[in-house]
Amino acid sequence: MKVFKTVDSLRKWRSNLNPEKKLGLVPTMGALHEGHLSLIRKSKNENDLCLATIFVNPTQFDRKEDLDSYPISLETDLHMLEESGCDAVFIPTPEDIYENKIASDLFDFQGLDKVMEGRFRQGHFDGVATIVRKLFRLTQPDKAYFGEKDFQQLQIIKKMVKNQSLPVQVIPCEIYREEDGLAMSSRNQRLDAKQREEATLLYQTLRNGKEMLQNGAGFENIHKMADEAFQSNPFLKLEYFEIAESDTLAPAISYDPSKKYRAFVAAFAGPVRLIDNIALN
Ligand code: PAJ
Repeated sequence: MKVFKTVDSLRKWRSNLNPEKKLGLVPTMGALHEGHLSLIRKSKNENDLCLATIFVNPTQFDRKEDLDSYPISLETDLHMLEESGCDAVFIPTPEDIYENKIASDLFDFQGLDKVMEGRFRQGHFDGVATIVRKLFRLTQPDKAYFGEKDFQQLQIIKKMVKNQSLPVQVIPCEIYREEDGLAMSSRNQRLDAKQREEATLLYQTLRNGKEMLQNGAGFENIHKMADEAFQSNPFLKLEYFEIAESDTLAPAISYDPSKKYRAFVAAFAGPVRLIDNIALN
């Protein structure tokens, strides 16, 4: 596996690739787990070459505590990428990739960034889109892989690609879970044993919501169930539980069977912020 640590070396490699070869890109912030590797495998299956990136992007963090405590495990990450057959990895420094101006560009996501993660994490999606656009321009992938774990991020990247007619196909990838249902996340390793046990409430609540909708319950009752579930758990603090239309992320008000809905949850376990979501119909 090739390891590139500078923009120049990456650019040189990219420009020498055979134009016939299809390139798949998997952007990550490292501290890799099986969820990330499922994206690598999908990219490998669908392209000739797979390029991963590892970069803890400072402009997408709204809380300094979150950035400072973001787990880093570069040696293990490289080993995991190599084992999964990844062809190349790009690990830039902030100064190099941001050309010494570490700041977000501003985007118009037509409201997609105003709800849920965007409401609770100021400027987060401008930071994400800034780095993803830089990576797209630099690596010029045919396809780029993003997890539904960050469903709002996936929709925002699709919107940016469409608005700016970027020549890349965005491929959604299913959420990869632990055996007890907890969505895999780099942040899970910061949970203590009790928090880890209780963290399954996020997925349980999403599953209950889905079952309730299938049994004819209204959105209001599903919200009530979620609020009560978190209120009675002293280890988790609910930030939001939302039901939204999958495409627009507009809050769901009354059920329309011709539309697709998803439920989304964000909660703190101590200082660790966890998110998850599920397709409801
Ligand atoms: P990161 O959290 O490292 O995630 C990298 C990619 O892996 C994202 O597309 C994310 O949705 C996906 N992913 C994470 N956990 C997953 C799981 N359990 N199942 C399936 N996919 C999962 O998301 C980011 O980094 C950053 O915002 C990034 C896009 C790299 C921009 O900085």
